[in-house]
Amino acid sequence: MLGEIREQIRVVKERDPAARNWLEILLCYPGFHAVLTHRIARWLWNHRFCTLARVISQLSRHFTKIEIHPAAEIGKRLFIDHGCGLVIGETAEIGDDCTLFHGVTLGGTGKETGKRHPTLHNNVTICAGAQILGSITIGDNSVVGAGAVVLDPVPPNCTVVGVKARVVRREGKRVYDFRHDNLPDPDEVAMECILEVVRSLTVRARKLDAENKNLRAELDGITAANERVQQQVKQLDAELALSRKSIDRLASTDGRTRELQEQLQDLQHGLAALEAAQSEPTSPIA
Ligand SMILES: CC(C)(COP(=O)(O)OP(=O)(O)OC[C@H]1O[C@@H](n2cnc3c(N)ncnc32)[C@H](O)[C@@H]1OP(=O)(O)O)[C@@H](O)C(=O)NCCC(=O)NCCS
Repeated sequence: MLGEIREQIRVVKERDPAARNWLEILLCYPGFHAVLTHRIARWLWNHRFCTLARVISQLSRHFTKIEIHPAAEIGKRLFIDHGCGLVIGETAEIGDDCTLFHGVTLGGTGKETGKRHPTLHNNVTICAGAQILGSITIGDNSVVGAGAVVLDPVPPNCTVVGVKARVVRREGKRVYDFRHDNLPDPDEVAMECILEVVRSLTVRARKLDAENKNLRAELDGITAANERVQQQVKQLDAELALSRKSIDRLASTDGRTRELQEQLQDLQHGLAALEAAQSEPTSPIA
């Protein structure tokens, strides 16, 4: 029993985002209390203490507002959320990992005898207020929508909704109900398609427009940079021409400098010869 309590606490914690801690689950979850009480009632029922089992079941109903017949077979890890107004009939069978919300009935149609309540396979979810009536099966992983009235078997991996329930989703894919009295208007469908295309084209045009603006801004930037570079090139050309002129001038100045240096050297030689002539002693007059 302790293991069962632990498992039920884990189930509530996993499937109800509102559950905060084990103490809260222990004290405030009627679905948790109902499932555990049912385990006791079921044990008594199996051991032929049928009246006592019914009494415990009714006491549980009084406190939890959840009525589970002690003969009902319930698999592991059943999660009953809220639970108020939930009824599970005598010959109902529930597989493992199922979830039931408040207001759900797993009941009979009143027309059958013997096995007259539904069988839920594993991992089935029955949403709030759904009525599953008769000895029908709900396949693995199926979901019954809120307020649905289910009178026919539901295959595995389906979602059914409505009164009377119809399949709206199979294997995760949407299923459409093409009833002759409820056929889609082809003009409306065509118009919807056209509008969808127009919508997507408008989005695409806006995107392209934005991209175009960005590209134009980039192009403007590049043109401005280009103009600046051209101006710099022109300036450099002008500076180059000036430098050439200066080099030419320097070259002519260089030739004149060499000439002057040669003249200076000549003058220096002449001056040296003159000085040498003056420093020679004059011969005495014989
Ligand atoms: C059935 C349910 C689980 C949704 O399943 P789904 O696979 O996601 O279905 P979608 O939302 O794609 O709906 C598919 C179609 O079914 C319809 N639908 C969905 N739930 C419905 C319901 N409970 N009753 C009637 N029609 C329903 C939708 O309007 C849609 O039809 P449309 O395309 O013609 O408009 C959900 O609607 C539901 O009933 N949740 C109740 C949960 C609950 O009990 N909460 C209580 C918490 S306290």
